Amino acid sequence: MKNPTYLILLLAIGLVFVSYKWVTSSQATGSTETKPTTIEDIMTRTSVRAYSDRKVESEKIDTLLRAAMAAPSAGNKQPWRFIVIDDRNTLDWIGENFRTMTMAKNAALAIVMCGDLTATFGGDAKDYWIEDVSAASENLLLAAHAIGLGAVWCGIYPQTERVEQFSQQLHLPADIVPMACICIGYPSGPTTPKDKWKPEYIHYNTWDSVRTILR
Ligand SMILES: Cc1cc2nc3c(=O)[nH]c(=O)nc-3n(C[C@H](O)[C@H](O)[C@H](O)COP(=O)(O)O)c2cc1C
Repeated sequence: MKNPTYLILLLAIGLVFVSYKWVTSSQATGSTETKPTTIEDIMTRTSVRAYSDRKVESEKIDTLLRAAMAAPSAGNKQPWRFIVIDDRNTLDWIGENFRTMTMAKNAALAIVMCGDLTATFGGDAKDYWIEDVSAASENLLLAAHAIGLGAVWCGIYPQTERVEQFSQQLHLPADIVPMACICIGYPSGPTTPKDKWKPEYIHYNTWDSVRTILR
């Protein structure tokens, strides 16, 4: 016991044991103190259109893009492509040219979510790229919320004029279609999610089924 190496080893084993117990107990109890759950993030996300002046760190932008690319896609084709816009002139151009995107003028950045038509299916499955890029967009919105950012999805596709204007401004090749412009920044104040729970929208097994909804 007088050997210091032996003591250090004992101490290290003790430390590993205590850390393991701490991690497993917080997993078992679903502790939310340090790590809000996915469900909480989904239920508290809301569109954020007012931002503070704070710059968004590049690590956070990286997280958003990684979350977007983690989305499911038909046949795992991953037809999403991204244009990260942090140039103030381009953000102002968006805010000034599209009446539903005025918040871009105050956003720290925007990410234009595009679909690559050469990377998706043909025939009657050709439109799956829209669902794929939408899944990536929702992932990005949720990730933004989870890391303290605020974001709003602004629609581009299928409005032809918007698609043409964005394509021209961003020098997009013909096969790259801009689907949405997500404006992002730190929220300027607290945000409140909308309650959208409508049990009457749910049908069981067939449309004309009747089932008592408990809550
Ligand atoms: C396809 C699509 C297009 C949208 N376009 C715009 C838009 O151009 N401008 C805007 O401010 N919000 C836009 N939104 C955000 C919606 O207005 C918002 O999601 C909706 O009001 C529900 O509010 P919530 O996101 O806070 O739950 C869009 C959302 C989707 C899914």
